[in-house]
Amino acid sequence: MSNEITRKDFLTTSSKYAVGAVIGIAGLDVLSGGKILAETKTTSWPFPYVALDPDEVRVKAHYYYWNDKDCCAGAFGGILEVLKAKMPDPWANIPMEIMLFGRGGGNGWGTLCGSINGGAAMISLVTEKAASGPLINELWGWYCQAHLPTGTANDFAVQSKYSVHKYDGKLIPSISGSPLCHSSVSQWCVIANKKVGDVERKERCARVTGDAAAKTVELLNNFFAKTFVPTFVTPADNKSCQGCHGASSLNNVMTQMSCTPCHSTVHSETTAVEQIADVPKGFNLSQNYPNPFNPTTNINFSLPKTEKVHLAVYDIRGTLIRTLVDHELYESGIYKVSWDGRNQVGEKVASGIYFARMQSGSFINTIKMNLLK
Ligand code: HEC
Ligand code: HEC
Repeated sequence: MSNEITRKDFLTTSSKYAVGAVIGIAGLDVLSGGKILAETKTTSWPFPYVALDPDEVRVKAHYYYWNDKDCCAGAFGGILEVLKAKMPDPWANIPMEIMLFGRGGGNGWGTLCGSINGGAAMISLVTEKAASGPLINELWGWYCQAHLPTGTANDFAVQSKYSVHKYDGKLIPSISGSPLCHSSVSQWCVIANKKVGDVERKERCARVTGDAAAKTVELLNNFFAKTFVPTFVTPADNKSCQGCHGASSLNNVMTQMSCTPCHSTVHSETTAVEQIADVPKGFNLSQNYPNPFNPTTNINFSLPKTEKVHLAVYDIRGTLIRTLVDHELYESGIYKVSWDGRNQVGEKVASGIYFARMQSGSFINTIKMNLLK
């Protein structure tokens, strides 16, 4: 019995602690001239920000990506932790885990990329609503057009500047053309010839998380230094489609995204697909002819059975240039489709290397084409 704490002892002991704690804070507060109690007051929105080092934030965000916070809380947390060290009040009370929902484009739904969702959340915490709009446009617009991961992100890996080393090689960059996680990840997997589950894909997203966090901080640093100059412009195809679908006319569409990657064949001439034989050996995508070409080239593909076909042209960075066959059903046979060297909105594209990629059932193949001018 002597080792047991009786109920009475327990009450006495815990109340002593409680009294001690109260006296402690009150006593300290007297010594600090009332500062401690004053500092525990709630800070009101928008929260204070100080200029941060984008490289420090980049390394932290990369670290949190790999330490169970993933892309969204990783980008938000990378910035948060550096802010916390500089300004414990109010930042120490914010858990980065509030942004965990955004991982994988929102709990794995592949919608908004988590890294720019996390960055935008931080922008919304430290700026007024009116100022946050242009900053978020700048971040998301940058994400759609940038080669990601950036050269800096790759350099950090090669020079061993990250604190987590799952894969330190250079990674091929791609341009998503979209803020959607699904577009960004799947296009990168095609360009890099990797699977979603590969360590390279995860490291790619870890580097993009660092890129987005660093970009957010760069924008916020400029904003608070009054040197932020917005450069975002609505994509050209969005503008032309909104000419009719926007507020001034049909008024039935609300998006800043580029329309054509999703609505590839609406209001545009569909590419003629011609059957040229009906005894194919198997799935095949043949080298285009002529090649090099200008302005038009032909691509033959064959199907051993009735199957849906997707055939599209990408540039060397993996940006979708033109959808030639959009998940349409064809019977077995050999088909010819031509590409006129124009993009989705009918503009002539620059000379250079392009890829045509065909997917049908589990068959995937890519050919390299050379447009010469
Ligand atoms: C000159 C005006 C105009 C322009 C420019 C325009 N549209 Fe339309 N679009 C229309 C009209 C009119 C309809 C029919 C509306 C209705 O039935 O409510 C339509 C219908 C659509 C539909 C639904 C019907 C369908 O055919 O599947 C989609 C999707 C669409 N447009 C996408 C686009 C996209 C993407 C662009 C830009 C590449 C674009 N539109 C540019 C006028 C336009
Ligand atoms: C991320 C993919 C995506 C993007 C980007 C996108 N849309 Fe859509 N849109 C869809 C889907 C999916 C639907 C619903 C299915 C359908 O009708 O095609 C839809 C529906 C529509 C409809 C109604 C279709 C109907 O049947 O009447 C119109 C009009 C339209 N979109 C126009 C646009 C315009 C204009 C843009 C660019 C300013 C745009 N969309 C951007 C995916 C997209």
